[in-house]
Amino acid sequence: MTAEEFIPFNLKSTVKNGEIKWASPSNIALVKYWGKKEHQIPENQSISFTLSDCKTITKLKYEAKTKTTNSFDFQVYLDGERKPDFEPKIEVFFNRIQQYFPFLKTLKFTIETENTFPHSSGIASSASGMSALALCLMSIEKQLNPEITESYFNKKASFIARLGSGSACRSIQGDLVVWGAHNEIENSSDLYGVKYPYQVHDNFKNYQDTILLVDKGEKQVSSTVGHNLMHGHPFAKQRFKQANNNISEIKNILKSGDLKAFIALVESEALTLHAMMMTSMPYFILMKPNTLEIINKIWSFRKATNLNICFTLDAGANVHILYPEKEKEQILEFIKTQLVAYCQNGHYICDTVGLGAKKM
Ligand code: PMV
Repeated sequence: MTAEEFIPFNLKSTVKNGEIKWASPSNIALVKYWGKKEHQIPENQSISFTLSDCKTITKLKYEAKTKTTNSFDFQVYLDGERKPDFEPKIEVFFNRIQQYFPFLKTLKFTIETENTFPHSSGIASSASGMSALALCLMSIEKQLNPEITESYFNKKASFIARLGSGSACRSIQGDLVVWGAHNEIENSSDLYGVKYPYQVHDNFKNYQDTILLVDKGEKQVSSTVGHNLMHGHPFAKQRFKQANNNISEIKNILKSGDLKAFIALVESEALTLHAMMMTSMPYFILMKPNTLEIINKIWSFRKATNLNICFTLDAGANVHILYPEKEKEQILEFIKTQLVAYCQNGHYICDTVGLGAKKM
């Protein structure tokens, strides 16, 4: 599909007042998206696990404006508290998506949002937050045009979420999502995420992700700044090629269930993401001493036990520990006894790879 095909032309009625609520999950990339072109088009393909428990729940209330104005009218609340500082980001988002939702300026919105994970945890809520809002807006479109198919609904929700935050387009469906056109992934697109369409070995069913909160502070580098660092980066071309190859490689791994190969690919991707940041200009080190302590402990434990534990990282210091469900007991014990000491205030979050967003 092309972007133009998401511009609705046959909306039948006008919107009635109402409210809509969606819960949308966070996701963790296995092959990382880092670098984008104009209009949030990724420089490379990525694939992620959908996290079933780290979610944003957004209620969107809407009523017809008494007078049509040429501006957006909305207020944002987090946990019941008005958040004017969130509004500029939503304003930018609404500006980007207004051509796809002609009703945006005719309505007055109240966006009430909450996260199932602590706001101050340092876990990015933009993927779950932007996808939840995109889904709410899609539900309004569906009211106006009940004939749209589920497939179109999901594609457009992902397309819209992408315009809020790139990785948000991978938060509509579960449990593995690919974003970025790749010649070995049927129907993959730069415009939206698609559910991974091939066979996945049982080893990866209900995969576990324990997130160790090493640093709960504000992000040192915003995603926008981060992605821009890939423009003119000396290793950019090679990196984008590597991501492309890693998508082909992970396809084989997901089929065969080869956990050792999975570990090597996932950890290499995490360290490559950070290597890109360390070698850009300006350069950043987003890992903290405790990030490295945790990584070293994981490596020693893996060597000693041969269990299939591995780590991945986002653009920050927190560590996602990934492991198969059947090794859960031993690995959680290791985390609790040996790794929690490296977390800020001992905080960590246990999650399971699972289903996508849900209407509530
Ligand atoms: O969605 P953004 O623009 O915040 O980018 C997120 C990029 C990473 O989380 C670092 C990697 C990824 O693919 O999710």
